[in-house]
Amino acid sequence: MKRILTFFLCGLLAVSVASAQRRRPDAPLPKWEGLAETPQMGWNSWNKFATEINEELIKATADKMVELGLVDAGYVYLNLDDGWHGERDAQGFIHEDPVKFPSGIKALADYMHARGLKLGIYSDAGTNTCACYAGSSGHEYQDAFTYAQWGIDYLKYDWCYTQNLNPIGAYTLMRSALRRAGRPILFSICEWGSNRPWEWAADVGHSWRTTGDIGVAFLPVPVTFDENGRPRWRPQSVLEILDQNEPLRAYAGPGHWNDPDMLEVGNGMSVSEDRAHFTLWCMMAAPLILGNDLTNMSDETLAIITNRDVIAIDQDPLGIQGLRLMKKGDLQYWFKPLQDGAWAFCLLNAGPEDAAVELDWEKLEFKDDISGRSPEFAKVNYQAKDLWNAAAKPFTTRVKGKKRGQTVGAKTSVVVPSHDVLTLRLTPMQ
Ligand code: GLA
Repeated sequence: MKRILTFFLCGLLAVSVASAQRRRPDAPLPKWEGLAETPQMGWNSWNKFATEINEELIKATADKMVELGLVDAGYVYLNLDDGWHGERDAQGFIHEDPVKFPSGIKALADYMHARGLKLGIYSDAGTNTCACYAGSSGHEYQDAFTYAQWGIDYLKYDWCYTQNLNPIGAYTLMRSALRRAGRPILFSICEWGSNRPWEWAADVGHSWRTTGDIGVAFLPVPVTFDENGRPRWRPQSVLEILDQNEPLRAYAGPGHWNDPDMLEVGNGMSVSEDRAHFTLWCMMAAPLILGNDLTNMSDETLAIITNRDVIAIDQDPLGIQGLRLMKKGDLQYWFKPLQDGAWAFCLLNAGPEDAAVELDWEKLEFKDDISGRSPEFAKVNYQAKDLWNAAAKPFTTRVKGKKRGQTVGAKTSVVVPSHDVLTLRLTPMQ
């Protein structure tokens, strides 16, 4: 009798365990791994074109990305931002705007894939996108499946019209939906740093915005007020974003990056400001998402965005975000640990005048808590290559002293123009 009872109870337990497993079909699914092992690189339509996008523009942009060597340089994602949307149908499925994209998004994805590119798309966790098109709220799984069916490779997911939504819940829901849809899609979280995503998003998305929207501004844009005395919305400048993004370096790493917003290179700042903006984004291991008109850009802009040595700082396999060692007046001293004992060094002159600076390397010694490394300038001699001046001869951070065979710390004199950078790769010499 006892044996029969035990058998019966075990059977009951097995059935209830099985049904408990079956009863949890919507337990959160993990994010797609293996994406954005180095910060993602590509182009996005928003900064230059806002919602004025269409099939012709996107195809022409793709053609330029191939023709100008941008794909070879690493820019593989071509991302549609807000404004591609048409209506939801009676079953709730989203469709593209038939006037802007008459051939459909799937055909556009095919066009990209045939050229070695990947297609990104944009949605919003709320009822509407920021430009008031249909958001994904209530349609997360449906939208994720639609994107997967179209052949989408990247989703930027915004945070407008979210009313009382819980950000961790909302972004985790879309993470699960993307996983369930079965196609690896890079998940770019865009809630502007409002809910400290760096503290919870490492296993939710592949990057998270850390700031409000960037503008075409190197220096802070002055605050203005509306008729009720309330401050008007203003975009973030390059210098403000540096201050907000730098302290978050401990949270970034392969597959989960701080995103200080897309690039404004080529959109109206001076060439030196563009160069400084681009370099500092690389020093911060930021996603490099171009935001200019690729069908019409200057040689200087092209030279900035295709500088392979500077891109290599961003894409270094260690994946450690750089640090600002110090601010001294208008000067900022940045370092980024790179593979094989190397460092990137960037000296930013944020001031209105050119700056003559003497770099006393031994005095720049420090310990980086994240990598656990120190440059050890008193011991290690580095060869320094100026990454924005191909004609400049490399120099060393130690020089021959008076005694035989002895080397001493070098002092290097440089001039950094206003709103520009000196950028060096420091490679340890044997
Ligand atoms: C928000 C985002 C921007 C852009 C717009 C689109 O402001 O932060 O990057 O996607 O929405 O409406």
